[in-house]
Amino acid sequence: MRPPLLAPVLITLLLAAGSDVTGQEVDRKPNFILMMVDDLGIGDIGCYGNATIRTPNIDRLASEGVKLTQHIAAAPLCTPSRAAFMTGRYAVRSGMGSAGRVQVLLFLGGSGGLPPGETTFAKRLQQQGYSTGLVGKWHLGVNCERRGDHCHHPNHHGFGYFYGLPFTLFNDCVPGEGSDILTDLQHTLRIMTAMLGVALFTLVLVRVWGLFEASLWLLVLLLALTVLAAAVWYVPFKLLPIWNCIIMRNKEVIEQPMRVDTLPQRLLGEAQRFVKRNVDRPFLLFFSLAHIHTPLFETPAFAGKSRHGRYGDNLEEVDFIIGKMTETVDSLGLANNTLIYFTSDHGGHLEDSNSHIGQKGGWNSIYRGGKAMGGWEGGIRVPGIFRWPGRLTAGRVVDEPTSLMDLYPTLKHLAKDTQPDRHLDGYNLMPLLEGKAARSQHEFMFHYCGVYLNAVRWHPPGSDSVYKLHFFTPNFFPPGAGGCYDTKVCLCHGDHVTRHSPPLLYDLRRDPSESRPLTPDTEPRYAEILEQAANAVEQHEGTLSPTRASQDRGAEAHGVESQMTWEKVLWKPWLQPCCGTFPFCGCKEEVTHT
Ligand SMILES: *[C@@H]1O[C@H](CO)[C@@H](O)[C@H](O)[C@H]1NC(C)=O
Ligand SMILES: *[C@@H]1O[C@H](CO)[C@@H](O)[C@H](O)[C@H]1NC(C)=O
Repeated sequence: MRPPLLAPVLITLLLAAGSDVTGQEVDRKPNFILMMVDDLGIGDIGCYGNATIRTPNIDRLASEGVKLTQHIAAAPLCTPSRAAFMTGRYAVRSGMGSAGRVQVLLFLGGSGGLPPGETTFAKRLQQQGYSTGLVGKWHLGVNCERRGDHCHHPNHHGFGYFYGLPFTLFNDCVPGEGSDILTDLQHTLRIMTAMLGVALFTLVLVRVWGLFEASLWLLVLLLALTVLAAAVWYVPFKLLPIWNCIIMRNKEVIEQPMRVDTLPQRLLGEAQRFVKRNVDRPFLLFFSLAHIHTPLFETPAFAGKSRHGRYGDNLEEVDFIIGKMTETVDSLGLANNTLIYFTSDHGGHLEDSNSHIGQKGGWNSIYRGGKAMGGWEGGIRVPGIFRWPGRLTAGRVVDEPTSLMDLYPTLKHLAKDTQPDRHLDGYNLMPLLEGKAARSQHEFMFHYCGVYLNAVRWHPPGSDSVYKLHFFTPNFFPPGAGGCYDTKVCLCHGDHVTRHSPPLLYDLRRDPSESRPLTPDTEPRYAEILEQAANAVEQHEGTLSPTRASQDRGAEAHGVESQMTWEKVLWKPWLQPCCGTFPFCGCKEEVTHT
């Protein structure tokens, strides 16, 4: 059998060797490294105007590549913004927008998450032969119906390799840092437990002393209620580090609860090794950093080094990590064939600070608002840098409106994926990045707060203006403060917002801080702007479902099952990822690499 097989193989080899090398280079599909920082503000970075923080590596990416100054997240919060980023579509289309109190996934044991039927850019690239990997934070769900079905897991959404946090880094992962999840509910449950306990104790005493004939049944009922309240409070909430702070490698839980101090170094190592493993084939790496969400790291090499306290130290550690990734790409000779992207999932968290550490959330520069503040610019305008030597002109700056949702169509385009797709809300960015187009295709952009359409951005053809109309704005607490200091994140519904009719209108070009609303007297195009925006909203809502969206702009009205209902989000023991035998979960990663 050998000789006949050998001949075609030899011929192929000879042909390959003889073919034009540069031709091959052109044909080879580019690699993608997408690096997303959590909660990073646009004002946190040197090349976006911060003179006192040292981010030389990120600044270098910008000077060697293209810097976007109006790069917009589809939502001001993690879960919906990431869902939109991954799918190239507004989060309402996948049911990942919230209609009420709970705006992000809260438990790994919840059943909500990116629906199995959704398509991510990773899935598209995988179909194009890419080796795909996710290192770091996912936060888009794990299981649907039983532990181990992994219906929302990265491996089922196009990532061939996953190492990292299926949830996110949050305060409960480190003892003494407080709690991030439903603290008011926790408080209520604790008080309920205490009150039931006191009532039970009193009745028992009364009965023992024979002062009063308390019925035995009443005592048993009270006892049962006390135990139940204690369990409902204690088990999901007090054991949160075990339930949510975990590390998985692919579908296996390899550390539970996770050690936070070594996390930065382990994530960086995994990201670097993924690149090294894939030098010989086109790859996509989504490196989703655990930084710069609280609790802040205290890595010795960076502690106390910056001029902005522990938050600044963490920023400089982020910059170090980005530098290491760039170095890895360059030293492997991959620079000219690798598109490196740097961004944040949304703006900095203004309410996050305390007297002990000081600033704990990001800085959004001159932009108003921050994380979880609907359409205010500070929560959605984020850094956006693309570096691709040999393809993108070094040092270019693009001021046109662009979206994180543009990554999906851009990657598809570069991977030469021409297969049919669903309705996308992003556009291929290459014409803008390469300077072949001067205008963004985003004439209109829609800014969501949960499932509610909060604001519209209009960049009129032939004009430099960027108008923004807010239909409602979050109510700050205390009134006059720059954020919601009672709930720590603003909400999008009911009494938590103020509606504006006519909408509040700003021109971001003249007033980037959204401080002076326009009126018919100060803006000659006032009536036209309102009309154009209303038409655009009507058209946009027409694409959300076959029938027009109803007055109630809830996810049900869009014909999509909401993933953010209480029923989906609350902890279900039978869905909890666990190493060992549930509920006795626990394991430590064996670190074999150094
Ligand atoms: C630079 O970033 C730090 C950290 O977020 C922030 O405290 C500071 O205000 C920023 N400075 C400027 C000029 O933006
Ligand atoms: C990368 O591209 C640049 C610009 O086209 C070129 O000058 C450089 O030699 C290339 N480097 C490699 C390693 O091919």
